Amino acid sequence: MCLANGWLMPRGRIRDIYEIRKSKIQGRGAFATRRIRPGQKIVEYVGDNISNDEADKRYDEEHMARHHTFLFTLDDDAVIDGNVRRNVARYINHSCDPNCEALIEDDRIWIYALRNIQPGVELAYDYQYERTGDNDDELEKFYVCRCGSPRCRGSIMKPARKRKKKKTKQRR
Ligand SMILES: C[S@@+](CC[C@H](N)C(=O)[O-])C[C@H]1O[C@@H](n2cnc3c(N)ncnc32)[C@H](O)[C@@H]1O
Ligand SMILES: [Zn+2]
Repeated sequence: MCLANGWLMPRGRIRDIYEIRKSKIQGRGAFATRRIRPGQKIVEYVGDNISNDEADKRYDEEHMARHHTFLFTLDDDAVIDGNVRRNVARYINHSCDPNCEALIEDDRIWIYALRNIQPGVELAYDYQYERTGDNDDELEKFYVCRCGSPRCRGSIMKPARKRKKKKTKQRR
């Protein structure tokens, strides 16, 4: 596993700062094995650099019962498909109250700790998926969030924009 982000142990052994195992959120997740400090660089999200069209070809969302992809938007033209063996970061789940964040630096995606993370705690960042349509029930179901946080907004998509209330003119 990601040696660059491990700790060098006596006699040259590398110990990872996280491990991959079953998650209560969804499928498998990444869990801290040591204390991780705020601002610590944890792992790079790597994969194939592809276009939006290629991403649509690889993941037919129309025929998925529930959203499940490994895509990470780099910019308007490029997407990283992280579904490659060497990308351990693909196991990091979403949380609406995350302890990590994903930052893009020189076209590379890095996962950083936002706060102190104790051993055993699952790593998670806010996916903030772009909303692909109106705020309808089907979309909410497709992108339902199971992070379990008291602050869960119910969706792995970006928060919906609040509709402005129309000002009602008072009659005299
Ligand atoms: C990059 S994968 C994360 C790893 C995933 N747990 C696995 O075992 O493959 C992204 C997918 O995991 C699922 N996922 C991640 N966080 C989630 C959450 N908070 N609620 C529901 N599904 C989530 C979604 O299906 C999403 O498309
Ligand atoms: Zn949530």
